[in-house]
Amino acid sequence: MTFKAFRVYVEDGIRRGVETMTEDQLPEGEVLIRVHYSSLNYKDALSSNGNKGVTRNYPHTPGIDAAGIVEDSQSPKWKKGDAVIVTGFDLGMNTHGGLSEYIRVPADWVIKCPEGLSLREAMCYGTAGFTAALSVDKIVSNLKPEDGKILVTGATGGVGSVAVAFLSKLGYTVLAATGKAEVAEYLKKLGAAEIVGREVIDDQSGKPMLKPLWAGAVDTVSGNTLTTAIKAAAYGGHVTCCGNVSAGDFQSSVYPFILRGVTLHGIDSVQCGMPIRERLWALMATDWKVPTIFEEAQEITLDEVESVVESLLAGKHKGRTIVKLP
Ligand SMILES: NC(=O)c1ccc[n+]([C@@H]2O[C@H](COP(=O)([O-])OP(=O)(O)OC[C@H]3O[C@@H](n4cnc5c(N)ncnc54)[C@H](OP(=O)(O)O)[C@@H]3O)[C@@H](O)[C@H]2O)c1
Repeated sequence: MTFKAFRVYVEDGIRRGVETMTEDQLPEGEVLIRVHYSSLNYKDALSSNGNKGVTRNYPHTPGIDAAGIVEDSQSPKWKKGDAVIVTGFDLGMNTHGGLSEYIRVPADWVIKCPEGLSLREAMCYGTAGFTAALSVDKIVSNLKPEDGKILVTGATGGVGSVAVAFLSKLGYTVLAATGKAEVAEYLKKLGAAEIVGREVIDDQSGKPMLKPLWAGAVDTVSGNTLTTAIKAAAYGGHVTCCGNVSAGDFQSSVYPFILRGVTLHGIDSVQCGMPIRERLWALMATDWKVPTIFEEAQEITLDEVESVVESLLAGKHKGRTIVKLP
């Protein structure tokens, strides 16, 4: 069997493009999946750009998520014809990823595509949407809509845009912070009540705490944005942290934590357990389902992956992009 995949070579510089592969080039694994859709996440752009923190060995096929149909299974958990999703674990990092017509993975990485969600819709969410769900779950478990606004940073990004949509659907008042003033209409469509420029969430006062401005925050960018999100969280506030687009570190005094009881939640979508995956994917298919994300998602082919990688790396990308495999 031969199939197409988006491949990255790191030799003298980076070379990437679509090429034909054979089944024996796939890694060991119990479940062979015919991928119908994958999607593009920030991590895929890093992997496509030779980032050794994401992918150690090249040539490589990126794609940290995939939705498709089981073609062959050596595990009793899955059978030919099952509609399934794979996100996280090592997919697309050092294991041949979802930007390919076929993947082969361990049975424990696979989750059933929930009732009420098509394979396309599952990838409109993808890893970014699942990460948004993990973040929103922390907000919903600790704060009620009447407790106050929820700030979402990097709001037009993959995680940010789905977080805005989930929170708004669940009745929260969302304050969206973005570097792209021109996409205010898009954020309003997703349900943002208020939109501010990214520079507003960048306190330079040096004060350990600020006037409370939000009950909670879903931060996707880190750095001084996260510092500011924590400083201006109200008493008993909850802030989630999942990304490093702006910086890999942030500064904070202890005062928001010891004087206001603010909680900072770390979010990891890669290794998190199956029970939470199953619970959240089921919610994403029902009570949290946000059709606007499916309508607004951009659909591309493998040949078009290259241009989206560039816009992700430049921080210019908007919302979710799914890749339809032939
Ligand atoms: N922990 C996990 O399990 C997990 C899972 C998925 C993703 N992540 C991480 O979460 C982050 C977001 O992922 P994503 O897929 O949503 O990425 P994305 O689609 O590229 O979105 C990131 C957004 O951040 C904003 N941004 C870009 N450059 C910035 C800068 N220099 N300073 C401040 N904001 C900036 C932009 O939004 P605006 O223009 O609207 O501001 C951009 O659209 C990444 O760091 C990713 O690696 C972590």
